[in-house]
Amino acid sequence: MTTRNKLNALLVGYEVAPFYKRGGLGDVLGSLPLALASLGIDARVTMPYYNSVKRHYPQKEIASFSVIFDKKEEKVKILQGVLPSSHVPIYFLANRKLISIINLRQKNIEEFVFFDLAVAGFINWLEDQGSFIPDLVHCNDWHTALIPFLLKKRMKSSIKTLLTIHNLGYQGRGSFKALEQAGFENQDLKILKKSKSITNLNALGEGILHASKISTVSPRYAKEISQIRKRTQIYRYFRLREQLLGRSDKLIGILNGTDTKIWNPQEDKLIPKQYGVTEVSTGKKKNKYILLDELHLPADKPTFTFIGRMASQKGIELILKIAEELVDLGINLILLGTGLKPLEQKVHALSEKHSSAIKAELIFTEKMAHRLYAAADFLLIPSNYEPCGLVQMIGMKYGTIPIAARTGGLIDTIDDGRTGFLFQKGSTHDLITTIKKVLKVYEDPERFEKMRKEAMREDFSWDKSATLYKKLYQTIVTSR
Ligand code: GLC
Repeated sequence: MTTRNKLNALLVGYEVAPFYKRGGLGDVLGSLPLALASLGIDARVTMPYYNSVKRHYPQKEIASFSVIFDKKEEKVKILQGVLPSSHVPIYFLANRKLISIINLRQKNIEEFVFFDLAVAGFINWLEDQGSFIPDLVHCNDWHTALIPFLLKKRMKSSIKTLLTIHNLGYQGRGSFKALEQAGFENQDLKILKKSKSITNLNALGEGILHASKISTVSPRYAKEISQIRKRTQIYRYFRLREQLLGRSDKLIGILNGTDTKIWNPQEDKLIPKQYGVTEVSTGKKKNKYILLDELHLPADKPTFTFIGRMASQKGIELILKIAEELVDLGINLILLGTGLKPLEQKVHALSEKHSSAIKAELIFTEKMAHRLYAAADFLLIPSNYEPCGLVQMIGMKYGTIPIAARTGGLIDTIDDGRTGFLFQKGSTHDLITTIKKVLKVYEDPERFEKMRKEAMREDFSWDKSATLYKKLYQTIVTSR
């Protein structure tokens, strides 16, 4: 940084859209680097070379290096590509035995210990090559949270690291054996274990302890995390960090942005009728009519949708609880997403029972998501907690009014009563009361259109947030 004026950043994640995407993290890692690059940062990305990536995106091998894992020399191949329609390089790390076969449904910590070790080895390799030496490694969630620790302890590197927490609910717990495989002597591990009086490895926890800086994906979620008082294991890691670095080391919250090239109703090729702010009412009406006709739902009813993972974090149970009441209110409900099988089954049973009002789309396709954002009137987001949330921002861009739980990033992005509605999280009573209030707005076309326009005019592009990341990167790189 001191000799070059360009800042070099390597962003690492287990999912990067479009190569592999399970949720919001994939979207963020597919779009943030582009925004950083446009601010003059040499941003590059690294992810695992899964078998599925290989099938869809064959890449060119540029080099290989070795790391010692489980006392054996393991070769890691580096394959290089670019993020679509850009010059931002992406490096895939490949190892047939340990990376390609990562079980993406049931993620095991052992598999990610190897990937993290491979990333540390890759950084070493980059430093030896000298053409792109990262000033900072930006890790994301538990899958990459051991990198700061491995860099420090295994590679003796002093490179700066940022760990962004996209979801504190997933920490990557497992046995310390995984670290033995990564070459740590029992002696090192004894110190690690003793200092925390814990018996299991917590990947996110080690990241919280060893990264130069920690951030999360909204200011509100940062505040919520800082207020955790329950003496959980992760709480202890935060306290340990505080003991090491003092209270001035604050957890930073930077809102995610959305990719305005993908999410823009005016240019969206996946929807039947494109529309801008001025023609929102007629545009959405056409999209609604076409979609509801296909789904055999009445086009003259207020239409609600849920788009997201069928996981308990997303509060889908709350919708299940009030579904009958919703049907009585004379609405349509379309649920799109995949996730836990028991939840999917309940959603399916519900749609079978009320087939003239409720539809379950249990195969997620990007196309259906785009069409739903364009066609629906309201977007239900009953999350139990939400670090940032992307659906509410996309919904607003499409003039689809969010009705969301008052938590995390939903509070930071929705202006209650102006661009959407917030209700008390977990409360079926408050959700129903809010929906009744919302239906009054729906019956007043002028007011409804005004709200849609206000929502569409909000700026959820990456511009602002990428600038904040740039500042944060600069602070980290220049700090001691
Ligand atoms: C996780 C969080 C979500 C956030 C996304 C991207 O999926 O649950 O709130 O928007 O990561 O940061």
